[in-house]
Amino acid sequence: MSIQNQWSSKIGFILAAAGSAIGLGAIWKLPYVAGTSGGGAFFLIYLLFTIFLGAPLLISEFMIGRSTQKEAISAYESIAPNSYWPWIGKIGVGTSIVLLSFYSVVGGWVVNYFLRSLTGSLTGLELEEYQQLFGTIISNPYQAVGAHLIFILLTVAIVSGGVQKGIERVTRFMMPTLFILFIILVFRSLSLDGAMEGVSFFLKPDFSKVTSDTVLFALGQSFFALSLGISTMVTYSSYLQKGESLPRSMFSVVGLTIFISLLAGLAIFPAVFALGFEPTEGPSLIFTVLPAVFNEMAFGAIFFVAFLALLLFATITSSISLLEIIVASLTKGSNDRRLKTAWTSGIFIFMLGIPSALSFGLLGDSLIFGRTFFDLMDFLVSNIFLPLGALLIAIFVGYKMSKSALFDEMSQGSVVPQWLFKFWYFLIRYVTPAAITFVFLHSLGIL
Ligand code: PHE
Repeated sequence: MSIQNQWSSKIGFILAAAGSAIGLGAIWKLPYVAGTSGGGAFFLIYLLFTIFLGAPLLISEFMIGRSTQKEAISAYESIAPNSYWPWIGKIGVGTSIVLLSFYSVVGGWVVNYFLRSLTGSLTGLELEEYQQLFGTIISNPYQAVGAHLIFILLTVAIVSGGVQKGIERVTRFMMPTLFILFIILVFRSLSLDGAMEGVSFFLKPDFSKVTSDTVLFALGQSFFALSLGISTMVTYSSYLQKGESLPRSMFSVVGLTIFISLLAGLAIFPAVFALGFEPTEGPSLIFTVLPAVFNEMAFGAIFFVAFLALLLFATITSSISLLEIIVASLTKGSNDRRLKTAWTSGIFIFMLGIPSALSFGLLGDSLIFGRTFFDLMDFLVSNIFLPLGALLIAIFVGYKMSKSALFDEMSQGSVVPQWLFKFWYFLIRYVTPAAITFVFLHSLGIL
């Protein structure tokens, strides 16, 4: 492996991993799914899954990647040669392709909004006008497919040059700025008349609204937001040198993701109730509510441009991690074929995403198993394949890897107390597989 494929600093890895995690999952998907799945109870279950299943899985992926220094598929091969285990990586790469194909559609909406915000045409509209505008952006086939294309092109351009160079430098200032802007937004939203109703919707659990779907969606959501289950984090940590602390990276990434999820919810829901939107609005939620909040702010138009630029950036740092695992696995880490592989994968993913891009317009009525193409892809990836991959990774780490090797890997670069290791091992060996299996069976109506 060439030196180019290493993170240049400790913080570089944390930023890249947090950049992969923080994106549409925590900012766009969480509020909309929480809104349609019962609010506070959903958020609480999401938090519990993130802490007790997501965090242990995240460090597991880190350990697989760093101990082997190999990408998603080869990593499993080198720990378990001549076995079926590398299928975890293969399924992960396949899932990444599908995930990126619809992720990019929503990324395209962000691009579209960003370009419009530059002209100032997004400020001062009425609520219905925001809804209409969003309707046009997602349903007009040229806009939807065109923006999807721009988003893929941006992603491919970055990945084909090698991920490490760019992201480290830019993420360093972009991430703190995004947090600051979100905090300002939360303050504005909380100070609107009637905001408290939104706070209690988001933070006060009402368990009577919990169904087996709520639990399955919360599970999928927590893996989606942490980029887990498809070996993205295996790939990213394979570029990490020994001697960095994995537990510290894990705590940072989980902490930041939870924090941004909380900020997103607190920016959205108070405004939903105060300004007369519906929490159950669905995928359009942040795109209609946030412009209205910025409207209520001094210099709102400027803040909105900045916000969209940062959101776009956060989205791209996630999409490049998805393309990176695909390219790294197909090229087996060799830089010679990177450019060509990035472009061919990008074109394929673009085409696969076209039906998703059209799902809010031309193909809106073509339902498969009662869902649009977009919804079906999202459902399969988030609620089936991510948890399935996570289950397999937990079994791999808990039963296939050697316990002492795991302890050594975890304590490289930091002093890990025995009890912490034991607690983690217990979670990954027993709790994670049991919980994921239970949620699956429960949602199938078997348990
Ligand atoms: N975590 C990313 C987000 O929330 C999405 C993602 C999922 C990226 C899985 C990589 C792997 O936007």
